[in-house]
Amino acid sequence: MENKIVLTGIKPTGTPHLGNYVGALKPLIEQSKTNKTYIFIADLHALNIIKNPKDIKQHTYEIAALMIALGLDLNNSILFRQSDIVQVYQLATLLMNVTPKGLMNRAHSYKAAIDKNTAAGLDEDAGVNMGLYTYPILMAADILLYDTDVVPVGADQKQHVEFARDIAGYFNHTYGKTFKLPEPIIGEDTGIIPGLDGRKMSKSYDNVIPLFAPESELKKKIMRIITDSKLPEEPKDPDTSTIFQLYKNFATESEIAELREKFLAGGMGYGTAKTILFEKINSVLSGPRAEYERLMSNQSEIDKILEEGAKRARIVAEKTFERVHKAMLG
Ligand code: TRP
Repeated sequence: MENKIVLTGIKPTGTPHLGNYVGALKPLIEQSKTNKTYIFIADLHALNIIKNPKDIKQHTYEIAALMIALGLDLNNSILFRQSDIVQVYQLATLLMNVTPKGLMNRAHSYKAAIDKNTAAGLDEDAGVNMGLYTYPILMAADILLYDTDVVPVGADQKQHVEFARDIAGYFNHTYGKTFKLPEPIIGEDTGIIPGLDGRKMSKSYDNVIPLFAPESELKKKIMRIITDSKLPEEPKDPDTSTIFQLYKNFATESEIAELREKFLAGGMGYGTAKTILFEKINSVLSGPRAEYERLMSNQSEIDKILEEGAKRARIVAEKTFERVHKAMLG
């Protein structure tokens, strides 16, 4: 894929972990070298859950610092804060008028909230605010505002991107061609990144390794990875080993082959394998971690980068919004 307009949003609701890094962040940074890429911190999308502005602000800095520290090319990509672009609120309001209510009723996240309420014997809309209900419309505004071609997201967000495409289609049908039709790109199954207990690395399983955990914590977590009870001298199966599966995402081809051999040959205990894994991950992440920490204690530097990004994003947002406004209101 080359010369596409790529866009994705990251919700500032928690601390990214190794699974996010391997499944989403690393590929995103990789492709940003060949495509114009918009990456924004979706703080408006956090509002339906997080009510403390300090928390949103803090998480926003964390995500921004993380992307910069991981080496996002700031010339080729535009890193900004969603709420800095006023046109996105405006476009969301306009898109309401071409979005069928029934489409929102079908959204997975809304349906999940209803199912949970029903199972608990509550009113089906208990605790559901309009931020949650209209979440897909705001997300469509994000995507359509920047003439996006492709949207890399996790499988859980695929429906939202399809909704953005549907909404663009309804709009174009009513008002003439105004929007490009965006397409989701779903990353390879991030389920292959196992967590400490061997299940998919996920906050909801409480088995994650935070991406920028301090060295001592990283080591502790890795030493806690659950293994089978094979003795050091026994041959081991790399393909079912969490240690090996994680290693594969950080090491070079020849290093991977070498560790595979050691697993198969026997004579290496899991403790040794964990130390090898720790050293590898630590060597890959220690540079970015130091830069992350430096940025987090220099937040004005992050502000400057986000402001610069917003300036560039706004140029396109203004143009698109003008086009939409004209189409709808003359
Ligand atoms: N909803 C996405 C998530 O929860 C974040 C997001 C907001 C997004 N706007 C977007 C992703 C636009 C892609 C495109 O992960």
